[in-house]
Amino acid sequence: MTKITELTPWISLVAHQKEIASHSMRDWFNRDSKRFERFSLRVGDILVDYSRNRIDENTINLFIELGLALDLEAKIKSLFAGDAINFTEKQPALHPALRDLSNKSLTLNGQNISTEIATVKNNIAFFVDKILSGEWKGSTGKAIQTIVNLGIGGSYLGPLMTTEALADFSHGNLHSYFLSGVDDAYLHDVLNQIDPETTLFIISSKSFSTIETLTNAKSIRHWLKTKLGDRDLKQHFIAITANSKKAIEFGIESSHIFPIWNWVGGRYSIWSAIGLPLALMIGNENFKEFLAGADEMDQHFRSAPLGKNLPFILALLDIWYINFFGATAKAIAPYGYRLRHFVSYLQQAEMESNGKSVTLKGEHVQYTTSTVIFGQEGCDGQHAYHQLLHQGTQMIPVDFIIIGKNHYHETANHHDILMASCLSQAQALMRGKTIKEAKEELLASHHTDEEAEALAPHHMIPGNKPSNILLIDELTPKNLGALIALYEHKIFVESVIWNINAFDQFGVELGKQLLPKILNLLQNEDQSISTDCATTALIAYYQKLKSR
Ligand code: F6P
Repeated sequence: MTKITELTPWISLVAHQKEIASHSMRDWFNRDSKRFERFSLRVGDILVDYSRNRIDENTINLFIELGLALDLEAKIKSLFAGDAINFTEKQPALHPALRDLSNKSLTLNGQNISTEIATVKNNIAFFVDKILSGEWKGSTGKAIQTIVNLGIGGSYLGPLMTTEALADFSHGNLHSYFLSGVDDAYLHDVLNQIDPETTLFIISSKSFSTIETLTNAKSIRHWLKTKLGDRDLKQHFIAITANSKKAIEFGIESSHIFPIWNWVGGRYSIWSAIGLPLALMIGNENFKEFLAGADEMDQHFRSAPLGKNLPFILALLDIWYINFFGATAKAIAPYGYRLRHFVSYLQQAEMESNGKSVTLKGEHVQYTTSTVIFGQEGCDGQHAYHQLLHQGTQMIPVDFIIIGKNHYHETANHHDILMASCLSQAQALMRGKTIKEAKEELLASHHTDEEAEALAPHHMIPGNKPSNILLIDELTPKNLGALIALYEHKIFVESVIWNINAFDQFGVELGKQLLPKILNLLQNEDQSISTDCATTALIAYYQKLKSR
């Protein structure tokens, strides 16, 4: 295969960037009142305004040519067909099958996986009903009132983010907690708030071998024993895993295990049984809607021509800034408290997927792949890192995400301010403030000419900074499903362009491999283990602190 940097559209994009780099978006907006119409797209209830980007029609045409040159449409087909595109692990990436509502059967290695998926979905729905009806009782005969999800990475961020995002759809009959890291302060904080008799612990771990999750699970089992005595505790634990053998060894009843499959990546697993905490919190019907929203985005991604294909457009805009303008970071700014965990969710989705530096052939890439993804809830971010976006030395594209319809009518002015904040930030990034405007403002605020001259460079804002606004009609289960699927597919398109495997994550394994050895040293189990001098010195220092 020809290297992507040698493809004609790529070479044309390099030349096109040189030409477009000197243009200002402010001028374009001043001259063209139709820019929004030309550079916005609506899919379902998601309207994406990408007019504040350093692009013209030619840019989009070159994006499309690049997509065609890479046979992107065939790659999309391959994803949905269940080809082993995660070739390093000999697995497909079949998360879309988990939300496919078409009832089409899909066979994998001779197994009809659609039937398996349907069975697990039914089991989940049945279980949710049992918990919500109070039929499922804890060991002292009381109904479940609290769930605690024990899991990390994809077994945490998806359930946490979606449950918080859809809090307005919660039936209100259950409390939920999410325990991810191994810090016992976290564990104690959770345990201090829950009643052992009415709590269900959900051990979510695809591998059932993640140290943080298993350490928490063991400590909780011990805690429960101290609280509930010698009772049978099995009703307080369920497991969601692809490794039922290990779950059974841990002591989970086999009928309390909800399977997931190796062909679902952890960061793509919210559509599987890993989504059980969400289903418990919002009920079965809403969970179905959540899947339906993602399915709708899948249909769009599979059928829309590239120029009107939202995941494709968003992916190419990212590629445009990363590979042609040299951007190394991207900000995600959800203007909405309910979406406050969306950034962490995307950090894993994007960086664990595309934080790679070898091509499918194992050669070192000659271009940048995933950038750093960062951000936080919009208004908080404004008062933290936006200074750098406006006047820092780097160009950092932003995705603003905002919800149109607010659920709280009495305080609707809050939402207006939220919307106005989002729009003004996007406008400020685009327009900036010229040195002349800065000087005029300073003179108007009673500075002398000399002062205005000296201060103007500090008040000047370069502008011409790109951003997208994703305006979602309402934060419903369906729209949240669609939003997540939109980003999943954007990530996939980027991986195709960069010619990397988005579905493995060997980079995170090394630290996991080293941990037992270092833990042994630290707990004085085996002093024969050798390590580097810095690690040895810190272990010794830590041990001294511990013994004080
Ligand atoms: O962070 C590495 C990782 O393997 C993720 O891909 C995964 O989501 C997370 O650990 C948790 O893994 P598991 O679900 O197997 O406990």
